[in-house]
Amino acid sequence: MAEDSGRSNPIKGVVEGVKGVAKQAIGAVSGSELLVREGRAQAAQASGYIPSAPGAQPPEKDEPTTPHPPLPPKPDQVAPELRTATGAPVEGPDTARGQQDEYLTTGQGVRLYDTDHSLRAGERGPTLLQDQHFREKITHFDHERIPERVVHARGAAAHGVFRANGAAEKICKAGFLKSGTETAVFVRFSTVLGSRGSSDTVRDTRGFATKFYTGEGTFDLVGNNIPVFFIQDGIKFPDIIHAGKPHPDREIPQAQSAHDTFWDFVSLHTEASAHTMWNMSDRGIPRSYRTMEGFGVHTFRLISADGTTSLVKFHWKPRLGVHSLVWEEAQIAAGVDPDFHRRDLADAIESGAYPEWDLGVQVFPDNPEQTFEGIDLLDSTKLVPEELSPVQIIGTMQLNANPTNFFAETEQVAFCTSHLVPGIDVTDDPLMQARLFSYLDTQITRLGGPNFAQIPINRPHAAVNDMLRDGFHQHGVHPGVAPYQPNSLDGGCPFMAGADTGAFIEAPVALPASTKRRANPASYDDHFSQATLFYRSLSPIERSHVIGAYAFELGKCYEQAIKERTLAVLARIDTELCEAVAARLGLEAPVPATPPVAPAASPALSQVGGQWPVAGRRIGILTDANSDIGDVAAAVASITAAKVVPLVFAAHGGTLQHEGAPVPISRTYFTGRSIEVDAVLLAGSPDDTNARIIVDEAFRHLKPIGVLPPGSKLLAAAGVSLDAPGVFADSGGSEIVESLIGGLAQHRVWERVVAG
Ligand code: HEM
Repeated sequence: MAEDSGRSNPIKGVVEGVKGVAKQAIGAVSGSELLVREGRAQAAQASGYIPSAPGAQPPEKDEPTTPHPPLPPKPDQVAPELRTATGAPVEGPDTARGQQDEYLTTGQGVRLYDTDHSLRAGERGPTLLQDQHFREKITHFDHERIPERVVHARGAAAHGVFRANGAAEKICKAGFLKSGTETAVFVRFSTVLGSRGSSDTVRDTRGFATKFYTGEGTFDLVGNNIPVFFIQDGIKFPDIIHAGKPHPDREIPQAQSAHDTFWDFVSLHTEASAHTMWNMSDRGIPRSYRTMEGFGVHTFRLISADGTTSLVKFHWKPRLGVHSLVWEEAQIAAGVDPDFHRRDLADAIESGAYPEWDLGVQVFPDNPEQTFEGIDLLDSTKLVPEELSPVQIIGTMQLNANPTNFFAETEQVAFCTSHLVPGIDVTDDPLMQARLFSYLDTQITRLGGPNFAQIPINRPHAAVNDMLRDGFHQHGVHPGVAPYQPNSLDGGCPFMAGADTGAFIEAPVALPASTKRRANPASYDDHFSQATLFYRSLSPIERSHVIGAYAFELGKCYEQAIKERTLAVLARIDTELCEAVAARLGLEAPVPATPPVAPAASPALSQVGGQWPVAGRRIGILTDANSDIGDVAAAVASITAAKVVPLVFAAHGGTLQHEGAPVPISRTYFTGRSIEVDAVLLAGSPDDTNARIIVDEAFRHLKPIGVLPPGSKLLAAAGVSLDAPGVFADSGGSEIVESLIGGLAQHRVWERVVAG
């Protein structure tokens, strides 16, 4: 057959011949593709080759069995030159991916001389249709927006690296968990309910999604900052989201749960009780993305090198500790700085205060019941207390670079719970099973077709040979004619890997004999004990925040029936909580038919107490014309030395002058607000209402306050006593700064509340 087709010489010979002639041609006229092709044609003629061969080399009769890289293109074929999206050669610097020419060009790279005037029939005449630049500019603008995510639309992201410490090696064969392995990551934090332009500090769950670009393919850990979820089965996801999103008639309120439809749903659908309790706690208003825990929520199945499986829950532990805003701060920030969390993350990274999280796992035996200490591991409305199963640290993540372009990276990144790597598998949790379907499905619409994995931020760092072809925005230029299996025309490529060559092989888990049905197991019936567990594990101050949050949210509801129904739910969780909320609503606290069950508390769930690093925190220094600028400069220096950021406030912009180097002013009393800082140092007593408000808010928001002698009048004007807890005044400037930093390490002056 080979002889009949005129390909009696192995095609290899032809390819070599072509390469030789082509090389000469390239040598003669560098870069001229036309000459390369001419050279190929000559070589083909010289060998007596008959055109129309389907593949790059004649197939063997038997199905190919030896793996090898994909065949080269046929000799007569060339792919488009390797260029970036903006015309630069791919081996160029990072900037090669962005705009290139020093002059404005069209999308085709033609230089332009004017972009301010459309081409018109005379100065006062109509615009001409032939104006390519005008049409291209307007058409592209008309299509700049893509749909925002259906949930988690508002977010911010950063690049970083994950370093494994090897502790997971025994239970998981994934290469990126081997000791010392470094893996590039991209992390996106988000709120759930709000639109893309909503505020960062609203009360809501936060997304914590991590893309690990591992050598064995991409692993996405798409988690939240709350370890339990609202629903047990993903089929209810549209229901909870429709209830939480703004009312469909007026589209209000934006980005929050303080409205009737949310409380209507969660009071009827009581499996949401534990997650709702977490949302009403301080976890619903994080201080920063950098101070949030992250949770994979579901139970995953890890597979070791010898095939042993274990069940695990993933935890991210922030090295800066878990900290929250206070409610009034969150509300002020939503108006004063809607980008509060986004700015905090970007500023911290820009200033070198790289946030870090330890990744840990709770490990459970993979028993047929998939339960641990009576807790159903397939029920994502339940957590396993760390006191019962400690979190074992398996590596550390550092975020150390901001995205270059928000849209290209943060907006176009596509996380998916079914992006798994060998060694990490899913479980049959019905919430997880729904997610395995949902993300890929939604991204086909959001990112305009099935090829979004080729968008730069989504590209794997492992070699891809997927036989997926064509579709909108195809960037691959795949040679070959046989994107099907089995084939012989493409030499049998691609081959199937085995366990020894890195294949993802699902854990062969035995399924129980079962009958097809729409029903939950009996273990899913307990909707309240985990809400009680969480509430009773909190410190008194945290509990008072929870009471305040329920009272606020229900107070915003219109319908009395919904408030009463929610109180009936709270009565099943905790009597004291129910009574306190009822009192604030002016309603009777119901007595539950079934009293709350009291599980053992889990102290690990409280975030009050402990000492934490202060890197990247901010201290505001309030000055006026009578301030001793030398003292201010000294405070700035010692604050900076502690890796804390000083923000100097004054009545005007510019600098504060004194004998030493001038001190730059960061905020005026007109532009600055207390929420921008974690502590204040009063170095003057400006006669300014806004300055008084800053001190008043700082005090009520439990922030440490330092007072230098010129600042005592301002403290008094704000109605704060020098003896109040967390007010440092009776020592020298450097001791006061030290005390402030000590106060920051505890996050808030909790004694101030306890002291009443
Ligand atoms: C444990 C429960 C869940 C967690 C922790 C979770 C977490 C997340 C996170 C972090 C994101 C944002 C990803 C990003 O930054 O781009 C997200 C988006 C999304 N989630 Fe979930 N989710 C959960 C449950 C569900 C369920 C049950 C469904 C559907 C059945 C679902 C559907 C979606 C969709 C459609 C998106 C938007 C994805 C996109 O447009 O790229 N989620 N989720």
